[in-house]
Amino acid sequence: MKHDVNKMYEIAKLAREKAYAPYSQFPVGACIFTEDGQYYGGCNVENTSYPVGQCAEASALGNMILGGSKKILATLVITDTREGVFPCGGCLQKVSEFMGPDGEIIAASLSGKMHHKKLSELLNTQFRDMFSELKHV
Ligand code: THU
Repeated sequence: MKHDVNKMYEIAKLAREKAYAPYSQFPVGACIFTEDGQYYGGCNVENTSYPVGQCAEASALGNMILGGSKKILATLVITDTREGVFPCGGCLQKVSEFMGPDGEIIAASLSGKMHHKKLSELLNTQFRDMFSELKHV
């Protein structure tokens, strides 16, 4: 099943408007599209104890699990930046738990720019693959 990138963009944009980012003043919205044709939005949620804050991608992942989906085909992140930004390293690892190396990651800006990359271009080694080896040590 193929995602509707415009729909992902709109869901992420609406999610961004709900972001709780009083400390960074950098609201972020995300949208995850799954194999069963579902779209899940998420926004960042910050905290007075700064490191405890949660990225938009992680919120979208939580919504996805609650919605019963498990296989991600595409993830879009929207920010108010010139070119858009790709997910941070931690979120690439989180998303990779549910997405294959050919999964699509889209960096979108509020002005409508979009950049597309495969997950494997951003994260070339998945810890999950090594973990299966480590488990037997
Ligand atoms: N943030 C995200 O939500 N996703 C990313 O991929 C990078 C950063 C959030 C974390 C924090 O609330 C704010 O952006 C500034 O770093």
